Amino acid sequence: MTTPTTPAARNDGLALIKARVLESVFDDLGVGLAKVRTLETPPGMPATSGASAIVGVPRETKVIATCVPAMLDFARANVAADGTLVVFCIGERTSEELAALRNALWPEWHVVAHYKTSDTGILRVALDEKRELKRSTGMKGIAVVARPRAAAFAPEATIVKFDKNAAGWNGNPGGPGYRHFRWMRRYVALFAGPVTPERVLDFGCGAGWVGIEAALAAPHGKQPELCAFDPSPELVRIATENAAAAGIARFEGRTGFGENPPFPAVGEALFDLVLSSGVISFSGDIPRWLDGLVSTLAPGGTLVIGDIHRESVGMRERRTERPLLPMREMNAQVREEVRLQLEARGLVFEAWCGYQLSQRLPQLNHLSATRLGGALDPLLVWWNARASKRELASGSRHQDRFDSWVMRLRRP
Ligand SMILES: C[S@@+](CC[C@H](N)C(=O)[O-])C[C@H]1O[C@@H](n2cnc3c(N)ncnc32)[C@H](O)[C@@H]1O
Repeated sequence: MTTPTTPAARNDGLALIKARVLESVFDDLGVGLAKVRTLETPPGMPATSGASAIVGVPRETKVIATCVPAMLDFARANVAADGTLVVFCIGERTSEELAALRNALWPEWHVVAHYKTSDTGILRVALDEKRELKRSTGMKGIAVVARPRAAAFAPEATIVKFDKNAAGWNGNPGGPGYRHFRWMRRYVALFAGPVTPERVLDFGCGAGWVGIEAALAAPHGKQPELCAFDPSPELVRIATENAAAAGIARFEGRTGFGENPPFPAVGEALFDLVLSSGVISFSGDIPRWLDGLVSTLAPGGTLVIGDIHRESVGMRERRTERPLLPMREMNAQVREEVRLQLEARGLVFEAWCGYQLSQRLPQLNHLSATRLGGALDPLLVWWNARASKRELASGSRHQDRFDSWVMRLRRP
């Protein structure tokens, strides 16, 4: 193979990379070279289905984000909604530089993988895999692979993703980390306070634990009817099994999305307690998702909503340092924004709290799970619970110390 010469920067700060230089990468992505547009593609050609593109960042560019405006213009004109954008950063790059590129591409594009290329091989790195391709390219660099926002949030993609990893979202009883996993679900469920609902809805239920905890918290003899839905059929199946095993007498699970919730169907009653934990950050259309959420709540009913906190100390650090992150971390909301949006939909705020310490707890949980067989788990759950209790008592003034938030509102 002949080694391609390193392309120089153009006036717009980008570098021309021919598609065939990364033929192995496009092969691996399942994108035919005929579909790949480059900076040589004449302007004005409509991006038909599957149209993808490659653009280069010159070796000498120190701050990659400076070329992003030109890159975005090129990508908007050339990549179809189901296509792929490859940004080839020539030469060596630090994790921080790649993280800054990822941040600058968001929210139009989500970076899903990197291919580290050299004369001797290609390494694909994604959040769930590291894999050598048995091929090489003549140019050393990092190919950053991004998908358009709409493709990343597509309903089919969500279903496939959660079906595939459904067992992981169910937790592993007795395994390291399981106490913390269950503690978080219980914490959210009990944030509802001393209510005795008749109908509870778990909105984006996953394995069902939040709704189950809420139903089990009801006074003796007053167990509510529990309804739950999730886009993933496999998770609805697991939630149904979990509810039966937990002794929930009246349970109904359905598949569906929060933007168009499957409960209540025509003729069914609204819910007097709605819980949604860790779901809003997966929505590609948050206003519609919130409309869906509020539409399920009965007058006088209680809503408990919680999720990860975009501006926590740990999340900010991860966005600066890590080149690849799950999309939900990019899409996470801060509670103030969510509160305002819910109040604008007529709900009345009651209380909120940060939970799940942002610093040292995730690191220690990881250590406990990976090296100590879960030996630290009881201590860590106790420490975490104590921090949340204090935070609640203080009026939750130190939200950024926590990776998650939860709040309670009422429908008048
Ligand atoms: C982090 S899990 C949380 C599951 C559960 N609420 C819990 O606390 O264990 C996120 C869940 O949201 C679901 N989900 C993703 N997008 C959704 C959407 N647009 N509407 C409702 N649920 C969604 C996923 O299938 C997944 O089960």
